[in-house]
Order: sequence, then C-alpha cells, then structure tokens
Amino acid sequence: MSACVILLAAGKGTRMRSRLPKLLHLLAGRPIVLHALETAEGLGEGRPLLVVGHGAEAIRAVVGPGADFIEQAEQLGTGHAVLQAKDACEGKADLVLVSNADLPLLTSDTLKALLAAQQKNQGPFSMLVLKHSRARGFGRVKRGSSGEVLAIIEEAEASPAELAIDELNVGAYCFRADWLWSALGKLKPSPKKKEYYLTDLLELAAKANEQVATVALADPDEAIGVNTRVHLAEAEVALRKRINQHWMLAGVTLIDPQSTFIEAGATIGQDTVLWPNTMLLGTTHIGEDCVIGPNTVIRDSRVGNACKILAAVVETAIIENHVEIGPFAHLRPGAQLGDGVHMGNFGEVKSSTLGPGVKMGHFSYIGDATIGANVNIGAGTITANFDGKNKNKTVIEEGVFIGSDTMLVAPLHIGKGARTGAGAVVTKDVPANTVVVGVPARAIRKLEDSD
Ligand code: UD1
Ligand code: CA
Repeated sequence: MSACVILLAAGKGTRMRSRLPKLLHLLAGRPIVLHALETAEGLGEGRPLLVVGHGAEAIRAVVGPGADFIEQAEQLGTGHAVLQAKDACEGKADLVLVSNADLPLLTSDTLKALLAAQQKNQGPFSMLVLKHSRARGFGRVKRGSSGEVLAIIEEAEASPAELAIDELNVGAYCFRADWLWSALGKLKPSPKKKEYYLTDLLELAAKANEQVATVALADPDEAIGVNTRVHLAEAEVALRKRINQHWMLAGVTLIDPQSTFIEAGATIGQDTVLWPNTMLLGTTHIGEDCVIGPNTVIRDSRVGNACKILAAVVETAIIENHVEIGPFAHLRPGAQLGDGVHMGNFGEVKSSTLGPGVKMGHFSYIGDATIGANVNIGAGTITANFDGKNKNKTVIEEGVFIGSDTMLVAPLHIGKGARTGAGAVVTKDVPANTVVVGVPARAIRKLEDSD
C-alpha cells in the first residue's frame, strides 16, 4: 500500500512571538522544517508535500527542492491545511500520512509504526498518542467507558475536567485516503477559534462507530512540539542529548556531554575526545584520534586525524593531520593548515595556507598569505596585508625563518631559505637565502643554499 505524506507547515506560529517563521527557527543548527522533512523522507514513501502559508516564501527558499509545496493562502486550521493537498494526493495513494511539521524530534521509525498500524486497522485512521502529565498545549484524547477513543479536545476549547486528561494527541496521523478526502468536507469551524480542526475527524469517526486506532509513543522526547520558545529550548536539550548519544555510541568520547554542543550537520571520527565547552557547528567534520577542547568552537570546518585543538575558535577552515592549535588561536575563513602545523598561543590566520610543518608559536597574525613547508614564524610576526584600500598578498617560500616581531608589509615575496632579523620591517621582496634586518629591512648577508 502506498502512502502520500503531508507535512503541515503553514501556521502563523503566533506563540513564538517572532518575525521569523516558527519552522525556520534553528534546532541543533538546522531549521525545524528540515528536521521534519528528514523524518518524513525516512519513511521511503517519496517526496513529502509541505503545506506552506505564513512565511511561505522564506520556507520555500530554505527547503528548496526537498519537497513539493502546497499553498494554504489563509490559515484556517489544520483540517483546512490538509484539504489543500487533496488535488495533489487524491487517487495517488491508499493511505495519507499527515504530520505537524513542528515536531522535530519525531523519528522515521515512529512514522513507520503509525503506517503499519493503519495497514492493520479496519477503521478510517490511526493516530499517535502519548501519556504525559505535561500537556505543552496538546489536544487531549477523550475515551469512553470501555476505552474507545471518542474525541480530541483542543486546549483552547477544553473544560477544566478535560484539561486534566493526561493522554495527548501528538499530531501525526495515518488515514485511509478515500475516507479522509470525504470526511474533511464535513468539518465545521470550532466554536472558539473558528478553525477547521483536523482533530475533529476523530469525533466524526467515533460517531459513525468507526474504529480509530492509537499508537502510543514510548519516548516522550519524540513528542516535543515547538509552539513557544520554552518548547524550542526543551527540544534543543532533547535533540542535543540524542546527537551526543549517537556519537558516543559511534566511538567518540565526550568528557561532559552536558556542555558539548554538536550540531546536526557535524561528523566526528572514532576515538576523538571532546572536552567540555566544545561546539562543533554547521558542516564540521572532525577526523579520528583528535583531542578537541576544552573551550573550543569549530564552525563549517574540516579537521583531519590526530589533531589537538585547545581553547580555539575555528571558522570555515581546513586543518590537515597531526596539527596542534592553541590555546587561544583564531582560524578565520580560508585558513588552511597543512600536516604537522603547530599554531600556538594567540595566533590568527585568515585566507592563508600554512604548508606542512610550519611553526607559528606565539602572538602572530597571518592574513592573505601562502607559506611554504617548514617555515618558522617568530613570536609577534604580523602580515601587514591591508594598505587602507586593498588586501595584499604575502608569499613565503619553504624553509624561511621569520625572526620575532617581523612586520611583513604586503605585497611581499620572501624567497626560499631566507631569514629576517628580530624587529625587521620588510617592505621589499627578499631573494632566496638572504638575511634581511632593520627598518626598513635591508639585506646584510647571503646564506648557503640548504639544498
Ligand atoms: C495541534 C493539534 C493538537 C495536537 C498538537 C500536537 C489541531 C487542531 N490541534 O495543535 O491536537 O496535540 O498539534 O502537535 O490540529 N498549520 C497549518 N495551517 C493552519 C494551522 C496550522 O499548516 O491553518 C500547521 C502549523 O504550521 C503546525 C501544525 O499545523 O506545524 C500544527 O499547528 P499548531 O497551531 O501548532 O497546532 P497545535 O496548537 O500545536
Ligand atoms: Ca504545534
């Protein structure tokens, strides 16, 4: 039996009190809507239909080709939202799976169980429920004397006695397609909010003596729905815990999972150790046998194997193998550190390549530079790359020894095997194997070619 998968994402998200559409708020670094789509895709039933309305343009831009879009021009409730997908779905599938897109922790396995339940159910639909004392605004599942489900009571419409019910409607359903499309036409606006509630279908079925099946969710975290920023923070904690457990089970040591933030797009190799206050953000890939942190933030970067990064901020950088960084180092976009580079205290590198074996121990700024293998960069070395108008390039060939406190005034080329004296201000290119000193630096001696 095939299924059509519909995700509801058109709501106003009023309770977020945000200019940003609710489903574009980030969880573990990724918009909520993309978490929901990933779960839906995991069902293996083809591209989901995403019902959009409020903030539709921004949501389309983020989702791109990941879904087919259905427009709900006016947000008249979840029942009305599903109805908008009728033309796209009807006649194409025997079952229709509907899920609210603001349930970012729901898993594909849970949706599969819901689908399987409806495949066995004689009645018109199956729904996901959760027993929990904290309702977080969810609809309550009302049952009759012999346990049969009678109705879903929305919080806004519920009496005090109904509010006390601890069985909740999670917000995911699997319908028999023909029943759904005809029943949706029978929905009436709710008394208080005047919305067409999808959840009123339960009462409709019950009154016709049709059997609605419930599938109970075991893990309450999966049902965290995001309506307010309080829920958003709860979802973040639960998702972080899930992500951290995934990496620990994959062979990564987290010294303190509570203070370790690994976003959804990050990957980590075996036997890497993450110390407290480490954040691996965006699309970050860490290799094997690394030691990262404490107090390290790495965003959108690639780190090879056996690297040590302590108390550093790394943004959009590439770090090869056996590299040591920090404490207190800053790699900015375009920094590329070759094998065995040592970048010690208070270093900053931007748009620069440091060849294999480069040593840059203390207090340096390297920007817009290409530095060859085994160059030694003395303490306090600065590339003066900006002349007030342009960023100029510095090229330092392999084996160069830059003395402490050298100012490299770009554009500049320093030939292979050259040396600069401490405090030199180098304003002109330096030929290979030449020693320059002073302000402005001048050549004082030739060295023998080390080759
Ligand atoms: C809904 C359910 C409630 C359930 C809860 C759990 C209804 C009437 N109520 O309440 O029983 O416990 O979810 O997740 O369904 N949306 C549209 N168009 C609309 C209105 C909403 O697409 O006109 C979308 C929203 O973007 C959201 C989802 O539907 O992703 C649910 O809407 P929301 O307003 O969050 O409903 P809840 O109050 O959470
Ligand atoms: Ca909701």
